[in-house]
Order: sequence, then C-alpha cells, then structure tokens
Amino acid sequence: MCGIVGYTGARNAADILVGGLTNLEYRGYDSAGISILDQSGISTIKAKGRLQELACKIKEVGKPGAGCGIGHTRWATHGEPSDINSHPHRTPKLSMVHNGIIENYLEIKKFLSDKGYTFESQTDTETAVKLVDYFYKGDPFDAIHQALERLEGSYAFGILFADQPDTIYAVRKDSPLIVGLGENENYIASDVPAILEHTRDFYLLDEMEIAVIKPGSVVILDLTRAPVKKERMRANWDIAAAQKGGYPHFMLKEICEQPKALTDTVHPRIRHTRPDFSADDIPADFWSQFDRVHITACGTAMYAGTVGKVLLERLARIPVDVDLASEFRYRDPILTDRSLVIVISQSGETADSLAAMRLAKSRGITTLAIVNVIGSSIAREADFVLHTYAGPEIAVASTKAFSVQIAMMYLIAIDCARIRGMIDDAKTAALTADLTQAIGRTRELLDLSGAIESLAPNFMKASSLFYLGRGLDYALAMEGSLKLKEISYIHSEAYAAGELKHGTISLITDGVPVVALVTQRELLPKIVSNIREVRARGGHVVVITKSGFDLDADIYDEIIRLPDVDDFFMPLLAVIALQFFAYYIAVARGCDVDKPRNLAKSVTVE
Ligand code: G6P
Repeated sequence: MCGIVGYTGARNAADILVGGLTNLEYRGYDSAGISILDQSGISTIKAKGRLQELACKIKEVGKPGAGCGIGHTRWATHGEPSDINSHPHRTPKLSMVHNGIIENYLEIKKFLSDKGYTFESQTDTETAVKLVDYFYKGDPFDAIHQALERLEGSYAFGILFADQPDTIYAVRKDSPLIVGLGENENYIASDVPAILEHTRDFYLLDEMEIAVIKPGSVVILDLTRAPVKKERMRANWDIAAAQKGGYPHFMLKEICEQPKALTDTVHPRIRHTRPDFSADDIPADFWSQFDRVHITACGTAMYAGTVGKVLLERLARIPVDVDLASEFRYRDPILTDRSLVIVISQSGETADSLAAMRLAKSRGITTLAIVNVIGSSIAREADFVLHTYAGPEIAVASTKAFSVQIAMMYLIAIDCARIRGMIDDAKTAALTADLTQAIGRTRELLDLSGAIESLAPNFMKASSLFYLGRGLDYALAMEGSLKLKEISYIHSEAYAAGELKHGTISLITDGVPVVALVTQRELLPKIVSNIREVRARGGHVVVITKSGFDLDADIYDEIIRLPDVDDFFMPLLAVIALQFFAYYIAVARGCDVDKPRNLAKSVTVE
C-alpha cells in the first residue's frame, strides 16, 4: 500500500513518474504527488484524489523541465486524504516519499519539536522527513543512517536532496523497493509494473541497504558504507501483461486470463502423471516430515487456504489449521517441529503475512510460501517457495491469484496424499488427470459470462446478499461474498448452509437474494433442503450448480449451470462464475471496479 516511483535520467521525469504511478495506483489512490529536482531546486506538486487530479494540476502549474524526481500514490494511514497529507513531504533541504508506517512518530515529533521544528501534516512520514533534515549536514548517507537508527516501523523511502543534483537516495525495511536499471537512466519503484514500460532489469534492494542512484550509476551501500554487490534480476512479465489490453477493467481481463494462469502454474509441475515439485527444490519426502499444517494468509489468499484445508484433510488426512495472518501472529500458535507453516500471498508483501511467517521461522518451524511475485519479501524469506504464475494482478479484487493458489493446493494435496500413503499411484494419476481436465474446462466459463451478466440487473439494487454452501462450496461461498462486497459495496455474508437455521434464517424475508452453491453430490439432499427453507421464506435464489445435477425447478429463481467435472475440482470452475457475478453487479451499479473505495491491493501495513 502506497506506491513509490523515482526516475533519474535525461528524459522528462514528470512524465515518467506519472506513467509509473498509473501502474502503481492499485497500491493506493487517496492522493498522489511528485517532486522534481533541477538546477533551480526541488519543486513539488501534489493533489488529493485519483492520479488524474495530479495530472490536471501538473498541467495547470506547468510541467517541470528535465531533472530527476520521485512520485507517490497514497493509501492513507495517518491523516485523512488531503493535499497537505499527500507525499512527497518537504523541507527546504530535501523531499521524501514513504511507504510504510513510522510507529514511533509521536516520539520523534516531540524530539524535533523541542529542536524548533513545526509540522503541517498529520502524517507519520513528515516526522521521518524532518528527522533526516535534522541530521543532514551535507552527507546524505550519514543523515539517512542516523535517521534510520531512530526510526521504528516499516518503510521504503525515496529521497531527493536539493544540493545533490541528479541523485535519488533509497532505503527500505519491511516495505518493498526495487532499483530499475536503464541505459544512462535509472529508477526506483515499489513494484515491477511501475517501470516495465522502460526496463525489465532491476536490483532487489535488501533491508537497510542505502541506494545512491544517478543516471549513469547505481551504488548500493550497507550501513558501514561498504558497497554491496547485487544480482541483476530480469522481470519475466511483459508490458502487455500489465496493461488492460482492450478490456474495460483489469478485473475482467484477469478473470478471463484464468485458464492460462492455471495452465502456466500447474502444467510445469506435472510429470509422469503426478505432481512433481523437484524444479521448485522441494525434497521428494517433504510432506512426510509433518503431522500438522498451518495455513496463514490475508483476504482472498486466506480463503484459498480455506479451500486448501478441505483438500488436504480430505485427501492426505493431515490436520490443517487456517488462520488470518493478523490473528496467527498474536495468538501464540501451538507449533512443533512436525508443523509446516504455509503462507499464501499474491504480492508476497502483505505485512501481516510476512510477520506471521517470520514468527514461525523464529520458532524454527519450516515455512513454505505460495507467492505470485518473484523476489518479493515473503518469497525471499520462506524456507521453500512455490511460485504461482498468474502474471501481474492489477485489479484490487483478487481473481486469477485465487485460482492459481487453489490449483497449487490441489497439487500439494495430491502429492502429500501420495507420499503419506493415502492414495496409490493409480489414484494419484486419476486425480492429476481430473485436475488437468478441470483446468482445461475453465475456458468454457468464459462463454457463460454473457448469461451471468444478464442476471446483474436483478441484483444491482439489493441491499444485502447471502451466499450459502456446504463443504468445499462453503469455502468458496466466503470468497464469492467477499468479491461482491469489496467491489459493489453491497452488504453480503456467506453461511455454511446447515448453520442457517441457527439464526441467519431470520434475515431471509421476501425477495432477499441468496446465492446457493450446489456442486457437491454427497451433500446434495442437505443443501437442497436448506434452499427450500430459504424459498419458504420468500428468498430469491440463484443456484450455481453442475450441469450433471438434476434439480427441481421450484428451488431456484435463476440457475447457472457449470461444466461437469469431478465434484472435488468444481471450485476451479465455480469461483469464476462467482467472480463474473460480482463483477457484473458492480459494473451495473457504476462502481469503480478496479479501485474499490478505501482498499488497496498490496497491504504493507499492519
Ligand atoms: C488485500 C487485497 C486482497 C488480497 C489481500 C492479501 O486486502 O485487496 O485482494 O487478497 O490483500 O494480499 P496478498 O498479496 O497477500 O495475497
């Protein structure tokens, strides 16, 4: 959350910064700003609201000329969205952008106030800026170093000093930052998409390294001022993957990319008719080392973990706990040397997920990360990593990342069951074939989008919507409900269908919309009874089911029939229907689907 970009080179920095911020807006869109350093000093332009507001303001005041610059798109933590609270923050000597939270900012504010500093914003960042200013006596490294010794919390900083022409200084702790490498021009960015238009080469800045970036050189120093030799990385995402490519929204594009994302993630990991993680450096006997699995994650990734729990327990007969990372880390979890902690994260930067993983590691517990962004903090720090290959996910509401996360859980469950002797080779091969078949049939979902879109007008005015399911369908109902509420702002809740009669049914009155997931044959009579209970109270029911199930027409008002694959693999298809459903309702309501209010994609604060 919050996006940083910086540029130094011969081209117009303002243009490049605004372009970079456009690709980082998913990290926050409460306000945006840039600072440009040229012969006349530092000029700063910032504006509350979407990036468009900043672009207009830049036009109004006149685009700064050539020079080097830093830019920021904000997701507000301390202080409301406003021009004053926007970054960059300034002093006459320097300008800074920040992603993260300075936890001891009140203490620093007091320290600086005693020295005569005054503060105009409500932000934690301004205290860090003025702290660097306080220590700055002409040596940027020294000032940054001294400030870091006092700052607590998380940060990625990009800094311009008025008397250090063409130079950006950067440093990070617990917030991501990369240094992009061009020809006689260089960059900083929170994430690869910000600079993909210009370069695919970059250095990953490690914690507490100070980068000194000029057009013709990048020097990275450790805190003893010794140069650090960095490995040059190359992003394998191309620019088209980070653009809308003709779709009205990133979310729709990403929903439609799922067949490919699933194939890219799963196919390289199938060899000789079974899952094979040898290319991921997972030892052959890996799964036999554990007697309990703890999955921890946030948001949609946590729901992928919830599906994973059902898969692992059912197939591999290993107990699995699923925890929100923000709860796991503070509940003193019971972990033993036979525990495996799996962290699931699209971005690999979610602060709570990272902290949960660090907690497990600090107790000597083996950690396995399922991560989409290569080189992210979680990917780098985990003992073992399984990368999902969904490509860049830009829309704030996660879609293709969820699908590849659950696909990975299928592979893990099948392999774990085989290694633990729960299934033989023939069953392993059959399940692996079913998984491949289900992935192949996700393409058919794209043809269903029109039918799902035609349902949207019936629900766009709803004030509340319920999702029901049992077993795997319940796990999925939670994700479907989250998807709807985050992008359409319609209140929604998911219930295990059997739980309805224990309270929730009192909320079902005439016309209340209910989405019922019906994809599990062994639970069919039970869920059908629950649907009848809803119908008896006037609920308006949309059933999402498999084409193979013969349901009485009087139990639903609307029905979405999915391709028929083995029940165990139905979540791979059903989730796409749920995503389309949420998407088209949000579009019908005129919502900003890719950038829902108050949310950010990459949540790097606790
Ligand atoms: C935010 C996003 C969600 C995402 C969650 C976890 O809340 O809006 O879409 O599921 O973070 O993110 P991660 O990158 O760790 O999967």
